[in-house]
Amino acid sequence: MNRETIDRLSAEIGELKCATRKDVEEARVRYLGKKGEITALFEEFRSIAPDLKKEFGRVLNELKQAATAKIEELRASVDDNASPQGPKEDLSMPGDPMELGSRHPVSIVRQEIVDIFRKFGYDVAEGPEIEDDHHVFEALNFPPNHPARDMQDTFFVSTGHINPLLLRTHTSSVQVRAMEQMPLPIRVICPGRVFRNEAISARAHCIFHQVEGLYVDEGVTFADLKQAILLFAREMFGPETEIRMRPSYFPFTEPSAEVDVSCNICKGKGCNICKGTGWLEILGCGMVDPNVLEASGIDSHKYSGFAFGMGLERIAMLKWRVNDLRHYFENDLRFLREFATSVEV
Ligand code: DAH
Repeated sequence: MNRETIDRLSAEIGELKCATRKDVEEARVRYLGKKGEITALFEEFRSIAPDLKKEFGRVLNELKQAATAKIEELRASVDDNASPQGPKEDLSMPGDPMELGSRHPVSIVRQEIVDIFRKFGYDVAEGPEIEDDHHVFEALNFPPNHPARDMQDTFFVSTGHINPLLLRTHTSSVQVRAMEQMPLPIRVICPGRVFRNEAISARAHCIFHQVEGLYVDEGVTFADLKQAILLFAREMFGPETEIRMRPSYFPFTEPSAEVDVSCNICKGKGCNICKGTGWLEILGCGMVDPNVLEASGIDSHKYSGFAFGMGLERIAMLKWRVNDLRHYFENDLRFLREFATSVEV
């Protein structure tokens, strides 16, 4: 045992720096562990000459105390993050990018239509997808076994009941619910999903979306209907858009019409989108049949109204010139990403 070794250890320990808990533990083992350097000096101390014991005993104890205190101090400094090296992570690194989805084209069109009619003062109403015969057919002037029911091939949820449940084939059922529940006058649009037992093709699907519109008040005329549709068409397809109405048949409206808008691709000249006609069909409409008003408890002598219904996928197909309806249901990301710019945050 000599003074130089003790002084060297004392200086070394005084200078000690550690960055991690592991470094501190290694230092502790190196100096104070069972085979540590300071422990070894204590072993040696046992066999030194008795006259040296006094001097060395004191300095050895001081060394051990200094080392123990230093280890404690280092341990505390790596425990909190205020260690001289600072936190390990680079806090200025950018975060992991999170991919933002985009809205589905059918949702975009639905929102656009809702926004347009909101501006005209319409409320939005929704109804159940699983409906009863009364709301889908009966109250809309389809008597039982009437051939007009064949226009809408129905999925039945339960049969054999007096009042069977079915998947609604059109959102006109919400028109009935609105007339039953809302105070007059009624100005409402009803977007929603509908179901028909159709073979899936480029032009038909068994699940699709519609928006129904209804206005009931005193003195509503066909001229009001025409004006509402024209304003809507110009908001939706551009201010130059023209409409034409063709006589049609729906059990719940009398008279009934189908509405075409001028083809905004060829400007009416005729192209392959409008099949050379210059016109594109967008919706069905008409004056609410007095029987329909009465079925929902509205006095048809006092009130009149108009209604219209359109397919969202069809409007979306015209808007984006998509020629196959199935794209809207397959969730192919390559297709959906085409609409990413339409994201509204
Ligand atoms: N419900 C009809 C259908 O699904 C669409 C429709 C036509 C709704 C004329 C109406 C209307 O309100 O007046 O084919």
